[in-house]
Amino acid sequence: MKVLILAAGLGKRMKSKYPKVIHKILGKPMINWVIDLAKNFGEVGVVIGHKAEIVKNFLPDDVKIYLQEPQLGTGHAVMCAREFISVNDELLVLYGDVPLLRKETVEKLRKEHSEKGNQVTVLTFVTENPTGYGRIVRNDGKIRIVEDKDASHEEKQIKEVNSGIYIFSGKFLHENIDSLKNNNAQGEYYLTDLVGIADKVSTVLLEDVLEVSGVNDRVQLAELESIARQRILRALMLSGVTIVDPSSTFIGPDVEIEMDTVVHPFTIIEGKTKIGQDCEIGPYTHVVDSVIGNNVKIIRSEIEKSIIESEVSIGPFARLREGTWLKEKVKIGNFVETKKATIGKNSKAQHLTYLGDATVGENVNVGAGTITCNYDGYRKHKTYIGDGAFIGSNSSLVAPVKIGKGAITGAGSVITEDVPDDSLALGRARQVIKEGWAKKKREEMENADNKE
Ligand code: UD1
Ligand code: CA
Repeated sequence: MKVLILAAGLGKRMKSKYPKVIHKILGKPMINWVIDLAKNFGEVGVVIGHKAEIVKNFLPDDVKIYLQEPQLGTGHAVMCAREFISVNDELLVLYGDVPLLRKETVEKLRKEHSEKGNQVTVLTFVTENPTGYGRIVRNDGKIRIVEDKDASHEEKQIKEVNSGIYIFSGKFLHENIDSLKNNNAQGEYYLTDLVGIADKVSTVLLEDVLEVSGVNDRVQLAELESIARQRILRALMLSGVTIVDPSSTFIGPDVEIEMDTVVHPFTIIEGKTKIGQDCEIGPYTHVVDSVIGNNVKIIRSEIEKSIIESEVSIGPFARLREGTWLKEKVKIGNFVETKKATIGKNSKAQHLTYLGDATVGENVNVGAGTITCNYDGYRKHKTYIGDGAFIGSNSSLVAPVKIGKGAITGAGSVITEDVPDDSLALGRARQVIKEGWAKKKREEMENADNKE
């Protein structure tokens, strides 16, 4: 089967500078929800028109793009993608602004289509408020769809409506798509008119209407967001993940979490993130596009584009930026920031530290307040810290620089030169003692006061 997604429409009620289909649900543009569903069924084509240049940026390389300009209706949209339709294959039609359709529903539709040997199979639903939808008009086994604006008073009473999702036989489409006329109330080419032409047509009635709810304005956007969110959290809970407070937890559609992991309140997990078993994530934690092993604890922290191996502990108040790779059993504590930093097994940076463009070995202790000075105003430079090194508190490691294995830097040092293995590096002013100086100063000041 091939899948054609219609996404050329305007979406005026969004009141937006941007095309409707790029507005996000759980951090993922609506059009990408639909494309990801479509990919389960075959090659994907997308019809774009309104603000096409912007929509294009969101389309993956492996979808075919068709331009509809101007937008003369859903039938016209399919005409614009004529070359995508193959005579020997079926075509599933989806909308770019209907993001919550489930795979199981499409499978039902496909089953009906092939079992009946249909030319068209229409997904329908029943609603108490059918205004705006095409009505399903049945007559002696024949089916027509009458658009709201073209419907008679009697037809308007019909509560079974067209979801806009269909499977067509490619051959039937090829033979009939060009026969569509626009002599109707809206002066549009209606895809729905093909249903009336078909001899072999049947419907599948959808029970969960939310699946085909479109987004027309930002209120509906928020409603679908909340439905999508509950769906995802529910599936995770049923698969063995504890979500302590679903009402304050946001987990995106492309997140995978394994069994016995606990997600604490006020936590957001987004993008392509994978989390293993027995982790404790949150409270107050934000994870984006990261891979996390088993038994990891993260409290009140920001994690982005990072790899975190098993038994690591992070936070509170840590910020792991892109390119962070924490090996097993690493400890990253409060107010520690990392970027493009690989930190070896068992190493620790527990307080107030910045590790950027750094490679840290195993069993290293990074003292409080350590800073890799990685930027000279023009370029970024690297810091290497060997296995078992001990970086004294408040060290400034001025990159490029290498600290050897087992080496020690004295607290407060500014390290500008490489430190050999197993040596001590001191880069600070020697302490000076002036005995009695403070007392003398005090007496001087007191005498001066007495004279006034
Ligand atoms: C359409 C159906 C209607 C159905 C309803 C369900 C037709 C004629 N009517 O209504 O029976 O009940 O969907 O929501 O098909 N689009 C294009 N190009 C166009 C026009 C639309 O790509 O020229 C796209 C839109 O971006 C949208 C989808 O098609 O994703 C549906 O368009 P919309 O205007 O919302 O649907 P209606 O025509 O009102
Ligand atoms: Ca319309």
